Amino acid sequence: MHSKLNSLVLLVLVTAANAQLHLLARATGKQYFGTATDNPELVDKPYLKQLSNNHDFGQITPSNSMKWFATEPVQGKFNFTGAEEIVKLAKKNKQLVRGHNCVWHSQLADWVESGAFDNVTLTSIMIKHCYTLVKHFKGDILQWDVVNEPFNEDGTFRSTVFYDTIGESYIETALRSARAADPSAKLYINDYNIEGLSPKSTGMLNLVKSLKAKRAPIDGIGIQGHLIVGQLPSFDSIKSNLQAFTNLGVDVAITELDIRMPTPPTTDSLAQQKIDYETVVKACNEVKRCVGVTIWDWTDKYSWVPGVFTGEGAALPWDDDLKKKPAYDGIAAGLRG
Ligand code: G3I
Repeated sequence: MHSKLNSLVLLVLVTAANAQLHLLARATGKQYFGTATDNPELVDKPYLKQLSNNHDFGQITPSNSMKWFATEPVQGKFNFTGAEEIVKLAKKNKQLVRGHNCVWHSQLADWVESGAFDNVTLTSIMIKHCYTLVKHFKGDILQWDVVNEPFNEDGTFRSTVFYDTIGESYIETALRSARAADPSAKLYINDYNIEGLSPKSTGMLNLVKSLKAKRAPIDGIGIQGHLIVGQLPSFDSIKSNLQAFTNLGVDVAITELDIRMPTPPTTDSLAQQKIDYETVVKACNEVKRCVGVTIWDWTDKYSWVPGVFTGEGAALPWDDDLKKKPAYDGIAAGLRG
């Protein structure tokens, strides 16, 4: 009896030592644990090796190359070179792909904003863009972020060329064109600062409720998760919010997780970051229809954070030298629950 218990303990310890994030996610009933990546990074051999480790990453998201500026830089002239490179890599590695994104006010092609198009024209431009993009990758994409960041912080709709010209219906129209292009892809609306209960997450809740009432094709809510160490909503707030979303009859996914801190990191800030990663991942783990977690790249070497927030960074579970940080074990703990 004693020796049986000992071997069980040993097994648990070995599993813990060999923790690999996607395998842990699968073992707990999630579809994947994944990471974003970007084309310029793929020439970095040690980076590519870990990116391709499908025991840690069972899913990848191109962080730039499916965006409008990259895929339709000139009206009607589509370019899928960068996006194809990442989809091909994912196939080779047996990794799932999240498509990011069809309609977003940022990293849009200049011609869309400067064209002063009327409602009818912009609607047809948007439908053509979404349909062509989603159709091109038909069968290759698990989930599409069809609409990205439609909300202001107070839960009202963000003023963008799409909202201002077409009105709220641009969201439903974009979803319908994506569904027509690839009926098997799960269609998401994706936003940040909707991790916990807030006016913005209420805005998302109401939008998805109204889309459901119209029988619009909406399958999931993407929760980006660009967070700050020590400043997360509480575990209960995150879990209740995820639960409230899934109660509408849609999936949720954490789509762009990173947790930044003032740089350089300290022992304390790294320890807090570990706790914070565990909090978010555990909340997803405990909500049945939270299907997976994606980090917004995996190494601090290629994080977007320092380029945008001066004096902040170190937001990812691997450091600049591609070494695991305590955050890695925090994620593993969150996945084990
Ligand atoms: O394409 C130009 C290139 O021609 C130029 O040489 C180079 C020099 O800096 O810049 C390139 O543009 C960069 C672009 O990514 C494409 O690589 C921009 O400077 C850079 O600011 C831009 O950052 C991206 C950012 O979105 C833009 O908002 C990040 O890589 C990307 O990770 C980030 O991702 C977003 C999600 O899509 C949506 N949610 C928020 C998240 C973080 O901002």
